[in-house]
Amino acid sequence: SDAIVITVDGPGGAGKGELTRRLAEALDFDLLDSGAIYRVLGYAVRKAGLALFDEDSVVQEAKLLNLTFECMDDGVHVLLGGEDVSLAIRTEEAGNNASKVAAYPSVRQALLDRQRQFLKEPGLVADGRDMGTVVFPKAQVKIFLDASAEVRAKRRCLQLEAKGKSADFDTVLAEIKERDDRDRNRPVAPLKPADDALLIDSSDMNIEEVFRTAAEYIMSKT
Ligand code: C5P
Repeated sequence: SDAIVITVDGPGGAGKGELTRRLAEALDFDLLDSGAIYRVLGYAVRKAGLALFDEDSVVQEAKLLNLTFECMDDGVHVLLGGEDVSLAIRTEEAGNNASKVAAYPSVRQALLDRQRQFLKEPGLVADGRDMGTVVFPKAQVKIFLDASAEVRAKRRCLQLEAKGKSADFDTVLAEIKERDDRDRNRPVAPLKPADDALLIDSSDMNIEEVFRTAAEYIMSKT
């Protein structure tokens, strides 16, 4: 197929989601939020009363996962069966559960085709941890978006405060570091830049600057 793939990988809170949305909109490409798949899986496992550490159950759940993304006026909604889980999967706990189920090689294997099926013309912007290394290794454009753990924790606290929730910086920082460690050190598809990825450190950049840097790079590669 002639479809173009742009991958955006990096740790949580680096701004991948926002960059991916802006790129998909500017290019009129489809979008894959692969983290949402792992989040929904963690949610489904807990809802079924199964244990996150029971790999066999988690794989079964992954194979059966009845997940759909729906575009609505206020953004993309995530449905599990008929249930709208868009908000439920965005908690800190859901992120942590996602990173536990995502550590199983068999689970990642079971979700591989499902992710690749998102690719259609004219193109796809895919965000996650292993989009450029495993899921779309032949992607024409690969970006790795990073930021220091402290900056990511600060952004997360501001997001929580904007939602009227209280946020303790040290707790948030500790959670971010715990999830980073698990994602970076797992044996299969660990969080790391593809050899041919452009590294962008967004610690001292705003979203406009990140978008401009990415857009210029995409134009130079396509
Ligand atoms: O990006 P997000 O925070 O939604 O991802 C949640 C978790 O899902 C990550 O911490 C990671 O463990 C897992 N994940 C993954 N591979 C991806 C996307 C997410 O392992 N491509």
